[in-house]
Amino acid sequence: MALPDKVKIVEVGPRDGLQNEQRSVPAEVRIELIERLADAGLPVVEAGAFVSPRWVPQMRASGEVVAGVRRKAGVSYPVLVPNMQGLEAALAAGAEEIAVFGAASERFSRKNINCSIDESLARFAPVVRAARDQGIRARGYVSCALGCPYEGEIAPRAVAHVAAELYAMGCYEISLGDTIGVGTPLKAQRLVETVAREVPLAHLAAHFHDTYGQALANLFAVLQLGLANIDSAVAGLGGCPYAAGASGNVATEDVIYLLNGLGIASGVDLEHLAATGRWICERLGRQPSSKVAQALAVRS
Ligand code: HMG
Ligand code: MG
Repeated sequence: MALPDKVKIVEVGPRDGLQNEQRSVPAEVRIELIERLADAGLPVVEAGAFVSPRWVPQMRASGEVVAGVRRKAGVSYPVLVPNMQGLEAALAAGAEEIAVFGAASERFSRKNINCSIDESLARFAPVVRAARDQGIRARGYVSCALGCPYEGEIAPRAVAHVAAELYAMGCYEISLGDTIGVGTPLKAQRLVETVAREVPLAHLAAHFHDTYGQALANLFAVLQLGLANIDSAVAGLGGCPYAAGASGNVATEDVIYLLNGLGIASGVDLEHLAATGRWICERLGRQPSSKVAQALAVRS
């Protein structure tokens, strides 16, 4: 076992979480959520998405959110951008880091961003270049890394190809998305082993949704390979609007409890985080899907 000593958590609740909640929350609540998450010790908090409001209305006020967040030293606040128009809007709002998002499945790519995989890569390259020219770091996502709602099984080689292209164009980290949460531990390991032949392991992240309840098991499997970057969402919020049946990301509370038990440092305060999860869930009119959050709520 090559468990890492330390893991970086990328908190995606304010973007991946809120983008798929039925109830849209106003910009001031999104801002407070981001600030509370940073105060809980999260080093990266995804703040919004500069996408078409016709496609994802929940992310409409992302400019206001990015402009309004009180920055905490040492914390980064990436935002999703699908094209040059998104980059320009993100820069105008004061974004300091972006993420482009591709897919390993042709049909998902068309449903999500209305173009083929090759077209998306050709579109992202100048966006990443323009961002980097301005000193803005770019992250890259590969969706459907462990399965697609439209195409079913996806070959790890197909994921590795897109990951390698994103890395070569200048993305500093490639996040492997199990968009619909269908993966299981050995498949997750095979995926990471295959992609790590193209992109150094230190530059890979696991972004696992929990639709089939496998996300924590999958994370433990890839932690054992030494993977040390994990995306998760407070309270297990969210899903993907273009992946029918996809439930939320793995809950950050559950990931932190797992890491604490394994003796892996994350810098996140679990009690503070769980309180933030309860707070946002009250505003959304739902319960946290995190088992750890539920257990802590009964105890307190
Ligand atoms: P399109 O319709 O092909 O775009 O959409 P277009 O360039 O033809 O433009 C059409 C209209 O969209 C125009 O407006 C543009 O101005 C506007 P009109 O003239 O008709 O009024 N438009 C924009 N508006 C705001 N911001 C922009 C923008 N670009 C064009 N950046 C497009 C293509 C990519 C824009 C669209 O498909 C889109 O916004 N898709 C986003 C979908 C999305 O956000 N999905 C969720 C995030 S991905 C995810 O959750 C997975 C992830 O978590 C990892 C995982 O779990 O696997 C990351
Ligand atoms: Mg996602």
